[in-house]
Amino acid sequence: MACKRGALIVLEGVDRAGKTTQCNKLVQTLQQSGQPVEMMRFPDRSTTIGQLISSYLEKKSDLEDHTVHLLFSANRWELVPLMKKKLEQGTTLVVDRYAFSGAAFTSAKPGFCLDWCKQPDVGLPKPDLVMFLQLSPAEAALRGQFGEERYETSVFQKAVQQKFEQLMKDSSVNWQVIDASQSVEDVHENIASHTHNAINKAQNLPLGQLWT
Ligand code: ADP
Ligand code: TYD
Ligand code: MG
Repeated sequence: MACKRGALIVLEGVDRAGKTTQCNKLVQTLQQSGQPVEMMRFPDRSTTIGQLISSYLEKKSDLEDHTVHLLFSANRWELVPLMKKKLEQGTTLVVDRYAFSGAAFTSAKPGFCLDWCKQPDVGLPKPDLVMFLQLSPAEAALRGQFGEERYETSVFQKAVQQKFEQLMKDSSVNWQVIDASQSVEDVHENIASHTHNAINKAQNLPLGQLWT
């Protein structure tokens, strides 16, 4: 019998909601239970395209808004062959941000509509589960100051949150809203339980295509 495929699990959420913390913990827990798993993150700053994006985020270079949007998408597409290979081999992928961040961040800029922003990512491997870590701006502020990177202002983050809310109305995507204000352990337990269900379901389903 062919081996069962891995699941594509995505964590999204506002700045400082705990995405990176929770991705790391989830990978650790799955590894300990003997589940083949790997973590990925977008943007993946290690590739040539990723370095252009990184320099833009660090404000070391400027890029035209449409152009940088397409680079973020290209940075996902360039990893698709690897993602598909891993999933087919039975490895579950835990991904820190994906196309939803792409659409939410660019459409929060003046002059961009959500529909245009989604188009370059149509057809990407569809996540089996997208967990949105929900945290109020006041609680996020308690977790520290904004960093120095582009987009790290409260006005812009509020606009991004509204775009995420629009994206979450799409029932073709398996969204789960997670209360990110609880302790790291409690959030982790919630996330792990949704992930176990998604891994079990994905085994018997073909990998889908996003937004098609
Ligand atoms: P993100 O990747 O979503 O921006 P991080 O995982 O980097 O968020 O977490 C942002 C900050 O908040 C870090 O200092 C982290 O230690 C802290 N943090 C993460 N989860 C929690 C939590 N549940 N409660 C309190 N602090 C948290
Ligand atoms: P990230 O490296 O995850 O930083 P952090 O952990 O500090 O949130 O994300 C970098 C920034 O890039 C973040 O502000 C969100 C933004 N972004 C986009 O604008 N488009 C995208 O497609 C993605 C994946 C991220
Ligand atoms: Mg992070």
